[in-house]
Amino acid sequence: SWVSAIITSILTVVLALATLISAFGSSFQYGYNVAVINSPSPFMQQFYNTTYLERYGSPMEDNFLTLLWSLSVSMYPLGGFFGSLMVAPLVNKLGRKGTLLFNNIFSMVPAVMMGVSEIAKTYEIIIVARFIVGICAGLSSNVVPMYLGELSPKNLRGALGIVPQLFITIGILSAQVLGIRNILGNSTGWPLMLGLTGIPALIELLLLPVFPESPRYMLIQRGDEKTAKKALQRLRGWEDVDAELSEMRLEDQSEKAEGHLSVLSLLSQRSLRWQLVSIIIMNMGQQLSGVNAIYYYADNIYATAGVNQNDIQYVTVGTGAVNVFMTIAAVFIVEASGRRLLLLCGFGICCGACVLLTVALTFQESVTWMPYVSITCVIIYVIGHAIGPSPIPYVVTTEMFRQSARPAAFMVAGSVHWLSNFTVGLIFPFLERGLGSYSFIIFSFICLVTLVYIWLVVPETKNKTFLEISQMFAKMNKVEIKLGDGDLPLKESKESLEDAERVTAF
Ligand SMILES: *[C@@H]1O[C@H](CO)[C@@H](O)[C@H](O)[C@H]1NC(C)=O
Repeated sequence: SWVSAIITSILTVVLALATLISAFGSSFQYGYNVAVINSPSPFMQQFYNTTYLERYGSPMEDNFLTLLWSLSVSMYPLGGFFGSLMVAPLVNKLGRKGTLLFNNIFSMVPAVMMGVSEIAKTYEIIIVARFIVGICAGLSSNVVPMYLGELSPKNLRGALGIVPQLFITIGILSAQVLGIRNILGNSTGWPLMLGLTGIPALIELLLLPVFPESPRYMLIQRGDEKTAKKALQRLRGWEDVDAELSEMRLEDQSEKAEGHLSVLSLLSQRSLRWQLVSIIIMNMGQQLSGVNAIYYYADNIYATAGVNQNDIQYVTVGTGAVNVFMTIAAVFIVEASGRRLLLLCGFGICCGACVLLTVALTFQESVTWMPYVSITCVIIYVIGHAIGPSPIPYVVTTEMFRQSARPAAFMVAGSVHWLSNFTVGLIFPFLERGLGSYSFIIFSFICLVTLVYIWLVVPETKNKTFLEISQMFAKMNKVEIKLGDGDLPLKESKESLEDAERVTAF
């Protein structure tokens, strides 16, 4: 449906270019930095080791090197966590475009730091730089969808909404391609490879200023009707935008009337308790199921699986390509199919793939074709994750919460996402060293637990109104939901009504 929406409506050049530049400058970088440390990891670890040897006269201990390496990987999602906390103050102060431009500091500075780390003979620089570039990712992942959502006309919002997601996967794939041994994934190329993240940032910094700031931000936060009108005229390609401007004002008024729930008051709302638990479990399941372990440590996993050293790089690129393709396919699947079914199938497939991978890793010594089974398992896992666990928690968060509670719900979901991502990045190398081939059993267990929870608790939310969804949860939340007359909004029992009135800023 959104394909025809693109064709039938006029996608202006200004809107198309603003979309491409912000997605390339910000979302692409986010994906790039997820995968960038995978291929060069043996050379970088060697650099850590020799630097240490030169400084202290003895080689680095195995455990210490593993710790430093897992920190280099996982400081990125930790930075992402702090970045996501900075979103609200920055977008209101600097604007959406302003935040994207400002955000380039958090990318260009670490790009230079990572680029010179080898010459400076300081591996600590890399660890700090990964944290800073993580802040950039945490901001990008929230601000790009917000900026694009506010630039696009209503009928294109869904279609442009997938552009950031698509550019993240393209960023991952690009890092995997550049990581091929003959390109940059070698002992001399890695500083350049890490530093290249500054290029999209520079392009964005040079080109995005020409494009308009979000008209909604200019109109509502700034009260600058003239600039908002001019921006909207450029974006739409026609003069008469008064109707859309007054629509924006109306939307704003109705949102203000609904009020905004703070994170604290969301946590204490009885009528939303199980919805909140559900989005927390789904986001934890999404990350703790190990999807990013595959991007952070892909080469390592394939090497453990006995894949030929020279083939690993191409297998890694193949996984990235499957991921890009599935992200596009998932848009159609998610629209057509129920959320619950896709979540159950997705987590089920991931669970099965992890069990099978464990078996393959265990028997790789005795059966020659086992590495192929392992590769297949990883690809099936990526497909399974892309149809459910990756996209759906976001969709369900939108559907389970009313407008007034949504920002707080996304704040909680985002924090859980980044902290779980950080946990996996930090402990996976230790898990692998301690448990060997059995480390994937943990991931399959997490997939299974999440699956059982969804099976028991999470109802289908597709095509349901907020009222219907809260009725489905009412029994578990132990609140009574009384239907108003006709289309009147719901009345909750007295206690939760009082909760709803405690609307404060967090
Ligand atoms: C560090 O380098 C030394 C000497 O080159 C080597 O013997 C040792 O195995 C390396 N340590 C690690 C953890 O790779």
